Amino acid sequence: MLTPGMGAVSTTFMAGVELVRRGESVPVGSLTQLGTIRLGKRTEGRVPKIKDFVALAKLDDLVFGGWDVFPDDAYQAAVKAGVLESKDLDKVRKFLKSIKPMKAAFDQTYVKNLQGTNVKKGKTKFDLAEQIREDIRDFKKKNKLDRLVMVWCASTEVFLKPEAVHQDLDSFEKAMKANHPAIAPSMLYAWAAISEGVPFANGAPNLTVDIPALEEFAKSKNVPIGGKDFKTGQTLMKTVLAPAFKARMLGLNGWFSTNILGNRDGEVLDDPGSFKTKEESKLGALEYILQPSIYPDLYKKIHHKVRINYYPPRGDNKEGWDNIDIFGWLGYPMQIKVDFLCRDSILAAPIVLDLALFFDLAKRAGMRGIQEWLSFYFKSPMCARELYPEHDLFIQSMKLKNTLRWMIGEDLITHLGAEYYD
Ligand SMILES: NC(=O)c1ccc[n+]([C@@H]2O[C@H](COP(=O)([O-])OP(=O)(O)OC[C@H]3O[C@@H](n4cnc5c(N)ncnc54)[C@H](O)[C@@H]3O)[C@@H](O)[C@H]2O)c1
Repeated sequence: MLTPGMGAVSTTFMAGVELVRRGESVPVGSLTQLGTIRLGKRTEGRVPKIKDFVALAKLDDLVFGGWDVFPDDAYQAAVKAGVLESKDLDKVRKFLKSIKPMKAAFDQTYVKNLQGTNVKKGKTKFDLAEQIREDIRDFKKKNKLDRLVMVWCASTEVFLKPEAVHQDLDSFEKAMKANHPAIAPSMLYAWAAISEGVPFANGAPNLTVDIPALEEFAKSKNVPIGGKDFKTGQTLMKTVLAPAFKARMLGLNGWFSTNILGNRDGEVLDDPGSFKTKEESKLGALEYILQPSIYPDLYKKIHHKVRINYYPPRGDNKEGWDNIDIFGWLGYPMQIKVDFLCRDSILAAPIVLDLALFFDLAKRAGMRGIQEWLSFYFKSPMCARELYPEHDLFIQSMKLKNTLRWMIGEDLITHLGAEYYD
């Protein structure tokens, strides 16, 4: 289990898995570990745990590695991140200390507010990507592993738009060799992972693997890919509430979302380039869920604003505050306020675990390219070019579970239920 980036999310994930393995904790927030799946009719009473229904890798079999621009081991990084308290970290100190970051493929052009020393050297971006491939092979050999999976847990890079060099693999590889500015470090990890047959999931909103060149490459190598941006706090709430308004045909005038957070992620997002990437990712959901072109009376004039402010006193404990202006019968206005005092990495860690296990499963099930059924986990889900992304959390959840049923050959569940009344 490889993570580019060994910061707050990644170390909280590693520490948590180890605590669960030792029986010290319960994997709260993880669908793969705690979730169940209904099979057949409601009267049959068949509701196995997901981990008993599909052949997921066992937690005991996971081995962790990663890359970071800082040389801190996972224990030091976790202490600095300040997410977990020493009563938890002390129990897994030795384990975390043994996880040391490999040198990162990094370029400050793409993450302005970071400076680190644990960085690879190479003449071209292609050379750096080849070095990542070598790291992957070494890690696999050293730890005697059968399979690998990679989840991007590194910082949000500056906003990039798809360009000509992203359109096909040949142009992409030429651009890596020519140090083209449209090739960000995250793309090098993705290319290296796909080259080594390793599934790649993107937990940040960077473009990364969401380009035709890497999509085509993933398909040709039979590798599952997906992204972008873990759906953890505010967007999770948005994709729960917006479908409710739409289901009841309630109108929306505006949605103002503000965030204050004080971790390193917040510091990185303080740079306008990285913020723009995050903003785009957070803005998309409402438009797709509410479909203003189909429901102009209800959603034509939505004022949707997203703000993120770096505010150090809060550390990793973000406050996501939403003011929602809705309207009802005869256009009478109403307001909803949501104040989510959340813990970013506590919400993200189980998502990293689930993504790793499901992407590994997908690979073994012969699934390749974009894994749209895992949209459930992403703020900005990748999907086929001709489609629009599905953001509604409940549709995403149904799609995920139906995909698992389909993999095993169980009947899909439509929720029709007419047979109970025949
Ligand atoms: N926590 C959440 O709720 C949440 C939700 C959605 C997305 N994310 C995204 O997940 C990512 C990780 O979040 P975090 O809170 O752990 O951030 P963090 O700043 O604590 O950790 C990111 C780490 O990545 C490293 N890094 C940056 N560029 C790198 C590179 N090219 N190669 C290797 N390492 C590199 C940094 O040095 C840092 O240690 C961010 O992009 C964030 O936007 C987090």
